[in-house]
Amino acid sequence: MSPNKENDGGWKKFVWNSEKREFLGRTCSSWGKITLFYVIFYGCLAGIFIGTIQALLLTLSDYKPTYQDRVAPPGLSHTPRSEKSEIAFNMNDPDSFKKYTSSMNSLLSQYDDEKQTDEKNYEDCSPEPQTYKDRGILGDDLGRRKACRFSRTWLGPCSGVADSNYGFKDGKPCLIVKLNRIVNFKPRAPANDSIPDNLVLNPNLIPIFCKNKREVDKEKIGEIKYHGVKGGFPLQYYPYYGKLLHPQYLQPLVAVQFTNLTVGEELRIECKVYGANIDYSEKDRYQGRFDVKFTISNS
Ligand SMILES: *[C@@H]1O[C@H](CO)[C@@H](O)[C@H](O)[C@H]1NC(C)=O
Ligand SMILES: *[C@@H]1O[C@H](CO)[C@@H](O)[C@H](O)[C@H]1NC(C)=O
Repeated sequence: MSPNKENDGGWKKFVWNSEKREFLGRTCSSWGKITLFYVIFYGCLAGIFIGTIQALLLTLSDYKPTYQDRVAPPGLSHTPRSEKSEIAFNMNDPDSFKKYTSSMNSLLSQYDDEKQTDEKNYEDCSPEPQTYKDRGILGDDLGRRKACRFSRTWLGPCSGVADSNYGFKDGKPCLIVKLNRIVNFKPRAPANDSIPDNLVLNPNLIPIFCKNKREVDKEKIGEIKYHGVKGGFPLQYYPYYGKLLHPQYLQPLVAVQFTNLTVGEELRIECKVYGANIDYSEKDRYQGRFDVKFTISNS
């Protein structure tokens, strides 16, 4: 009993020692000083922290990435996109390609004509490839820039307007292709001798071309058709001014339609875009190109 009582008394004394007027072993003025010290100490730390962040933010532009001198060339992306780039479906079973066509529907719904009627935000650019559309330099105070209209109907049989199955039902599937956006990037048309023989050079167009990836598939992939503005990405849609200044921007699209793929075999196809400042990387399989595997069945 007694040791307990002593301990208890010791602890109580520690919490409040009335002889020395100490609370938890310190006097009031000592507690005051230590509190003041920590308030100032952490105040300074917070100040330094906020100060450096503010200084960094001042050097950033709202419009343009600060460090953009080594821009990677744009990626090329396609819709539908699927796991392992494998597009397999049964042309007689709509459920087997529904996931593909619904992703195309959602992409192309942004390209509906009735969403581009606002004259404040959209303008007609040439239906033929033309040079870059200069909308002033980034960061000047011209405010929001207009976007060139791009109608999904230009994608013809791949527009989803006349054929909501995008050719899948007939074994002639479409892919919608776009170049990923990069603020202030101006793709340049390819040099004369660097494009496949079957492409016609246009100084204002970034052409796309798809072919068999493996030699054995050469006779099996059939004719490939390209829909959109002359089957490529026309330069008047560039440069892109960024989300803030160009909120309605529409990337130009190309639809690639495979009209005579051999049924019942896995076919590998590679699509590439050609431009003087577009190149390809061993590491990034989507830089300027992509691969896709088609397997169509019909039983
Ligand atoms: C492309 O090169 C060929 C010869 O290789 C030449 O005849 C043709 O005029 C060139 N075209 C352009 C647009 O430079
Ligand atoms: C489709 O390809 C086959 C060979 O795989 C060929 O015999 C046939 O003529 C082609 N059809 C068309 C319309 O090109």
